[in-house]
Amino acid sequence: MDKFVIQGGRPLNGTVAASGSKNASLPLMAAALLARGTFTIHHTPDLQDVHTLANLLRIIGCRVQYDPVGKDMLINTENVHHFEAPYELVKKMRASIYVLGPLLARYGEARVSLPGGCAWGPRPVDLHIEGMKQLGADIDLDGGYIVARKDRLIGNRIKFPISSVGATGNVLMAAVLARGESVLENAAIEPEIVALTQFLAAMGAKIDGIGTRKLTVQGVDHLYPTHFDNLPDRIEIGTFMIAAAMTRGDVTITNVIHEQIEAISEHLIRAGCTIEKGDRRIRVKGPETISPVNVITDVFPGFPTDMQAQWIAFMTQASGPSSIVDQIYFDRWKHVPELERLNAKLRTDGNMCKIDAPATLKGAQVMSTDLRASASLILAGLAAKGTTEVLRVYHLDRGYEKLELKLASLGAEITREKYEEFVKLDTEE
Ligand code: UD1
Repeated sequence: MDKFVIQGGRPLNGTVAASGSKNASLPLMAAALLARGTFTIHHTPDLQDVHTLANLLRIIGCRVQYDPVGKDMLINTENVHHFEAPYELVKKMRASIYVLGPLLARYGEARVSLPGGCAWGPRPVDLHIEGMKQLGADIDLDGGYIVARKDRLIGNRIKFPISSVGATGNVLMAAVLARGESVLENAAIEPEIVALTQFLAAMGAKIDGIGTRKLTVQGVDHLYPTHFDNLPDRIEIGTFMIAAAMTRGDVTITNVIHEQIEAISEHLIRAGCTIEKGDRRIRVKGPETISPVNVITDVFPGFPTDMQAQWIAFMTQASGPSSIVDQIYFDRWKHVPELERLNAKLRTDGNMCKIDAPATLKGAQVMSTDLRASASLILAGLAAKGTTEVLRVYHLDRGYEKLELKLASLGAEITREKYEEFVKLDTEE
């Protein structure tokens, strides 16, 4: 396995380019199943999750080629014949469930493993299933699989009880080929969903209300392949912004869409950072004294839950105590005991974490438990005194492209090394 070895205490300086968005590229790739032909998705990041979905598409019958230098993902869907997402892949990556809507809508059947729990607690997919039912699908749960069938889905009005990125994307992909009109209310408006909607529109889907919480879809009989530019990864950008801030560095990030990171920028300004916005670039200068800032995570445009763990690491360096409430996931605290090994002073109570600061972080061996938890441990390691070893960085490789090389280019002392683990645990996410 790989680990990162970090010598903390160096301010980061320089310029780094953001990679393409992981969470946008996954539904875009799945959406290719909706039409016959060859798709190209530019700026697809070279990440484990992307490769997992590429493998799933291959199992389904697609020809998938990825160019890790040019970052182009080519998907040819002419030979789709196997309408199943097996447990081995879905348990590795929950977003595999994105193939449910497209397979069902285009081929009239889909067999998709239920993902099971995730590293930080239950993450149901009931809204995906309910949405398909409301479009007329017959759904059975059989041997741990969602088995969905319907020759042609029928448009309907679907009101999501809570805003869900995945359910909105999945149900939308099903609705675009349904007969008649569908109205999706309380739809997610995360940039990744807006990108998916634009991708579907480029394929010939008829969708009104793009970027709003009410999407009106007129189902069409056929969709067509397209070429598309993926978004930059707003969570990777936010992670670099915090890395700059908490090491009191001065970092410019390029390939940025400002509207997608507004909440992160605003919170960093309140913490005392200097932020300069340029043309698709942002410069972040860390303050001498970091002010404590309380955060409540929320759906877009609120502060993202995927930045919660990194923000906790940052706030350990503030001049006073703060708190963070996660409204999206109530038990996403796997990073807390690991951060405590680095001498962070944290206390969780339900979906709130209190951060007692300032704390002098001290290097130690810590364990990645999930993707964003890994990022928070690396950030803490960059600010800690001495050497931090972050084990099991395969979690990080799911969602950050060459993070250690990018951080090293900004002056961080961080290396990737091999190590043996005596006890190998299963790694479902
Ligand atoms: C996506 C992101 C993930 C991010 C999350 C919230 C991807 C691949 N992952 O996950 O990084 O943390 O959005 O921004 O894009 N829920 C239900 N039933 C469902 C679906 C969701 O109760 O059927 C709940 C979840 O438990 C959670 C909330 O809805 O409390 C929001 O989850 P959702 O937006 O669906 O997250 P994902 O799409 O899984």
